[in-house]
Amino acid sequence: MNNFTFYSPTEFVFGKATEAQTGTLVKKYHGTKAMIVYGGGSVVRSGLLDKVKQSLTAAGIDYVELAGIQPNPTDPKVYEGIELGRKEHVDFMLPVGGGSVIDTAKAIAIGIPYEGDFWDFFIGKSVPQTGLPIGVVLTIPAAGSEGSGNAVITKLDGLRKLGIRTPEILRPVFAVMNPELTYTLSAWQTASGITDMMAHIMERYFSNTQGVEIADRMCEGVMKAIVNEAPRVMSEPDNYDARANIMWAGTVAHNGTCGVGCEEDWASHGLEHEISAIYDVTHGAGLAVIFPAWLTYAAKHNVGKVAQYAVRVWDVPESDDLQAVAMEGIARFKAFLHSIGMPVTLRELGIENPDIDLLVRKFHEDKGKVAGNYVHLDSQASREIYELAR
Ligand code: NZQ
Ligand code: ZN
Repeated sequence: MNNFTFYSPTEFVFGKATEAQTGTLVKKYHGTKAMIVYGGGSVVRSGLLDKVKQSLTAAGIDYVELAGIQPNPTDPKVYEGIELGRKEHVDFMLPVGGGSVIDTAKAIAIGIPYEGDFWDFFIGKSVPQTGLPIGVVLTIPAAGSEGSGNAVITKLDGLRKLGIRTPEILRPVFAVMNPELTYTLSAWQTASGITDMMAHIMERYFSNTQGVEIADRMCEGVMKAIVNEAPRVMSEPDNYDARANIMWAGTVAHNGTCGVGCEEDWASHGLEHEISAIYDVTHGAGLAVIFPAWLTYAAKHNVGKVAQYAVRVWDVPESDDLQAVAMEGIARFKAFLHSIGMPVTLRELGIENPDIDLLVRKFHEDKGKVAGNYVHLDSQASREIYELAR
């Protein structure tokens, strides 16, 4: 097991009606004037936004609003939020929504006190030293941003979708998580979220680090729980326990607990981010296409852990033929993805003629000449994976 530091100060407030505590929580973390950030209107239609505002008012917290964040969020809204926050002297960021809304709020949180361009942080030109505190009201279990120290933004100029990781500054101080708020999610968003959380665990699980029994078993256990709960949540969208288990799975999948002590991989996320940057597809659905292709490549070049995954997560019978075991595991993973309505090829995702030259070029521009850790991907390897995903 590798040395690690694990810093996760987020207070998770989980369960029915917890959104009523939002105002008290903002106050507890010293907010006096919050910027509520939300998306295209689901929180307006559900009545959640009104409830959050009432709770802020009851706690004596002033607020301004930044609406209209799109999935796969882009930089113009971040600039707009930075300007608004400075003008209004906001001291607390309050995203109400999913990963796109939370990540926009995170970028604004570090952009407000920074004299330069917030994008400097995403291209490695500068490292955030400080930021406004962030409190989250989560409406979709998927990206795990409510517990992660990451943010992902697309720069429209050049369509660069890049992430940063600064847990000391970007982990939210609190996350309100009421599973009932997720009843209104479409089947597509629910399944995309399930795929994304599976992927967050797999990025950590596929590691060459030895002696990580606790990480392995936690990853396998959470993946199995997700696979068990997925059919229930798809067929009974308002089953509280199924929604609750999936919601908490999305958090533990990405708050770091499952991967401590391991060298993580993250190449599949990089490969997918190019797809969602160029074709604006749902991140989780893009992963449903990339991950089986990546696994197929990985099974060929470093079969060990792929075979272990097949046996322990997908109940493939053990055999000396590790390659066959691994391939059967991948087949079962694909069948699972299909069963929840996910695509497993670019064609099924609606991309008939992918520009693979462009995808490969952008992937290596953003992630370096060689990416990934479990298997190392040069441009020939990434091309092979995009081709496998066709
Ligand atoms: O915009 P509204 O109207 O609110 O609708 C949203 C949006 O269209 C809808 N939605 C959310 N909650 C709902 C709801 N609809 C009905 N009922 C509800 N309760 O869902 C759609 C998708 O929302 P989005 O925020 O985009 O979803 P998600 O949480 O999947 O976030 C995806 C973004 O997060 C990034 C992805 O790349 C993508 O940009 N990621 C962020 C990470 C992080 N910060 O740690 C890690 C991830 O790997 C990921 O890359
Ligand atoms: Zn993801």
